[in-house]
Amino acid sequence: MDELGFPTRKRYSRREILALGGAIAAAAALPRAAAAGPVMTRPIPRTGERLPVVGLGTAIVFDVGADAARRAVQSAVIAALVEGGARVIDTAPSYGTAESVVGELVAALGMRDRIFLATKVRVAPRAAAMAEMHASLRRLKTDRIDLMQIHNASADLGAMADQLALLREWQARGVFRYVGVTHSRESANERLVALVEREKLDFVQLNYSLGERGVEARLLPAAAATGTAVLVNLPFGRGRLFSAVRGRALPQWAAEFDAASWAQFFLKYLLANEAVTCVIPGMDKPEYVADNLGAARGRLPDAAQRRKMVEFWESLR
Ligand SMILES: NC(=O)c1ccc[n+]([C@@H]2O[C@H](COP(=O)([O-])OP(=O)(O)OC[C@H]3O[C@@H](n4cnc5c(N)ncnc54)[C@H](OP(=O)(O)O)[C@@H]3O)[C@@H](O)[C@H]2O)c1
Repeated sequence: MDELGFPTRKRYSRREILALGGAIAAAAALPRAAAAGPVMTRPIPRTGERLPVVGLGTAIVFDVGADAARRAVQSAVIAALVEGGARVIDTAPSYGTAESVVGELVAALGMRDRIFLATKVRVAPRAAAMAEMHASLRRLKTDRIDLMQIHNASADLGAMADQLALLREWQARGVFRYVGVTHSRESANERLVALVEREKLDFVQLNYSLGERGVEARLLPAAAATGTAVLVNLPFGRGRLFSAVRGRALPQWAAEFDAASWAQFFLKYLLANEAVTCVIPGMDKPEYVADNLGAARGRLPDAAQRRKMVEFWESLR
C-alpha cells in the first residue's frame, strides 16, 4: 500500500468480469437506440475534451440489486446510450446498489473505455474519504474514474477545501481525470457560486429544469466565466415535468427547434444554455435513451423561443 492506499496488483480477473456475461445476452434481446446521426458535443472548458451533451443518471433506476430482469433492462439502457453516441454515466456510492450495478454491467458489456464515468464521495475525514473512493474503484471495476465529485457540497468551506485537496492528489496520480462538486437544491446555489468562483473546479453538477430555473441568474454565468463544466441533474424534476403536461399535445412551435417529444422539449430548453455541458436524466427504458438522445440532434431554441417555453410552462401552473 502506498500513501493513497493503492496496492500494486490488479484486483479483477478477466474470469470474474466474463462471469457477468449473462447480462449481455439478455440485453441483446432488447431494442437498441437507432443511430440517427451524430449527437451534439460540448467541450470541457479545462481541457477541450468534448462530451456528448446527453448522458445518464443512475439514482433509483440502477438500484436494482440482483434482479436479473431489471439488470438486463439497465444493461440495454447503457448499450443504447453508447451505441447512440453518448458516454457520460453519473452514479454515487449512496445510490443503493446502483454504483455496483453500473460497474458490473459496464464491465460485462466491455464498454469501460467508451464511457465517461462520474461518481461521488461524501465530505469525510481523509481516511474515511479514501476508503470510500477505493470502494468506488472496486465497485466500478476500474482503476480510473473520469470525474470524482464531492456529493452535496453543504459542508463548511474549510472541510470542502480539505476534501478537494485530497481529490486533487488522486487527480495528480491519474486516478481521477476531473474533479468537481454536486448539489441538487436551489437553496445551495449561492454556496456553489462561491465554490465555483474560488476553487477553479473542473465540473459542477447542479439541478436545472424548465420547472427550476434558479441557476440561470448567477450559478450558470459563474460556471461559464470560470471555465467550469456543468452537469445538469434532475432535468425532468424527478419526472414531475411529465406529470405537468400529461394529456397535452406538444405545441406545434416545438417543431421550430426540432423537438418531437416532451422529453426533447424539456432537454432542449436546458441545452440551449451554452453554459450546460451535459444533462444526465435517469432512464430505465432503452426507448427513453433513443428519445432523450434526440434532444442532442437538430436545432436548439433561440432566446425568444426559450422565453416562449417559460411562458408556456408558467401557464400550466
Ligand atoms: N446531489 C446530487 O448529486 C444529485 C441529486 C439528484 C440526482 N442526481 C443525478 O441526477 C440524475 C437524474 O435524476 P433523476 O433520475 O432522479 O430525475 P430526472 O432525470 O429529472 O427524471 C428521471 C425520470 O424521468 C422519466 N423519463 C426519463 N426519460 C424520459 C422520456 N424520454 N420520456 C418520458 N419519461 C422519461 C423517468 O420516469 P419513469 O421511470 O417514472 O417513467 C425517469 O425515472 C440521477 O440519476 C443522479 O445521477 C444527483
